[in-house]
Amino acid sequence: MVEYSSSEKHNYKFLVWQLLLFSAICWTAIEAPLSFVLNIQAREHNLWWDGIICLLFLVDVALNLTGFYEKEQESAQLITPFLQKEKRPYHKSIWLPLDLVSSIPFDILAYTFGFQGVLVLRLFRLLRVVRMLKVVSLYNSMSMLPHGYKVGLIFCSVLIVIHWIACGWMFINPMVEFDAYTFYNKSLYWSITTLTTIGYGDITPTTNTGRIFTMIIMILGVGTYGVVIGNVSRLIIKADRYKEAKKEKFNELGMFMKHYNIPTTLQRQVFSFYHHLLTERMSDKDNTIISELPHALQSELNIYMKIKLIKNVHIFKDSSTPCLKMIAKNLQQSYYSPNEPIIQRGDVGEEMFIIAHGEVEVFAGEKVVASLKEGQFFGEIALLEHTERTADVRSKSYCDLYTLHKDDFLKIVEKFPALHKKFKDIYTKRKTDSKKAA
Ligand code: CMP
Repeated sequence: MVEYSSSEKHNYKFLVWQLLLFSAICWTAIEAPLSFVLNIQAREHNLWWDGIICLLFLVDVALNLTGFYEKEQESAQLITPFLQKEKRPYHKSIWLPLDLVSSIPFDILAYTFGFQGVLVLRLFRLLRVVRMLKVVSLYNSMSMLPHGYKVGLIFCSVLIVIHWIACGWMFINPMVEFDAYTFYNKSLYWSITTLTTIGYGDITPTTNTGRIFTMIIMILGVGTYGVVIGNVSRLIIKADRYKEAKKEKFNELGMFMKHYNIPTTLQRQVFSFYHHLLTERMSDKDNTIISELPHALQSELNIYMKIKLIKNVHIFKDSSTPCLKMIAKNLQQSYYSPNEPIIQRGDVGEEMFIIAHGEVEVFAGEKVVASLKEGQFFGEIALLEHTERTADVRSKSYCDLYTLHKDDFLKIVEKFPALHKKFKDIYTKRKTDSKKAA
């Protein structure tokens, strides 16, 4: 399961909102032309939808005007300013009038003023579909967007185009002998067979306009088909690239193990480590990304990578930037396999640990007194009380830990007394819990 950090959660909400808008656009794109060709008037049951969609669009305009989107996009887009085109502010762009016009509740107005029979008025709702361009460009610029979203977007767009062509065909070739369902069904079938260049020829144009329309669709069909297939395969290849790299690594490892006759249990451990490294251990991947940068820049970026981790630790949440920087500068990464002892009771404490990934268990004798996970810390008591370790701590799964050496830790809590107090509150509670459990 994908876990979202707080800022990613924020983007996640933003994506859900975009998905809602996108669904409203798709609904209009499907319903408006179909109502037009099937002669469906604005009735009371349509009005609800019209109202809801307009409300959604107006909220969207308001969010755009307040600058909320810019902030969200900034954090969701990983495209650097060098790759981005200069953007006009929303209130000066062509999108504001377009968005406002497309937020007009045409159905409600037509119904209220008695124009529900004027179908062309209902077609004005198609203006809402222009927003689709915005969604597409937004999705394209979001490098963090899951591939599923992008493939879904292409798929929906293709379905809508097929539907429009079917509606165009219905407009040009009215088949009065069929009921609405069969009429649409046949037109959709024609649209798909023509667009995919299959063309069985069982439904053919009989008028000049029909033939011209068919020729246009045939010519466009070949190009569109190619573009869609190209885009989908590009996305699939992109998603597969990572899997391929993993497969390659595993093949190489397999050959290495065979060559040196490594015992099976050790082989399993090595494979299991690599699986963890390639799937979960973000910090290593992140280090590879920045590995080509000069050393000074790498160290600076490293501090911010660590600050992101520290901010997820509850106790450091409200700490000032200088405090976070001081902690980040002194953190060292360490790694543990499952069931490895990390701290042994009675030992001298040399460091405290922050869990970046994985889970550890705290033991009082044989009894587990606590399970600590990502974003939690341990090993602080011996450092603050200048005593021996008070419990055993063992890794439960693969663990990426960050350690803070005793001297650095003590310097930090001395410089930031508020943090010292927070630590004290927590370890006093931990000691009481351990005593109760023992
Ligand atoms: P320290 O005594 O330095 O080393 C063992 C660590 O286990 C200890 O610091 C605490 O960080 C942690 N620990 C001890 N008791 C508990 C508890 N009840 N809940 C959570 N963590 C604990």
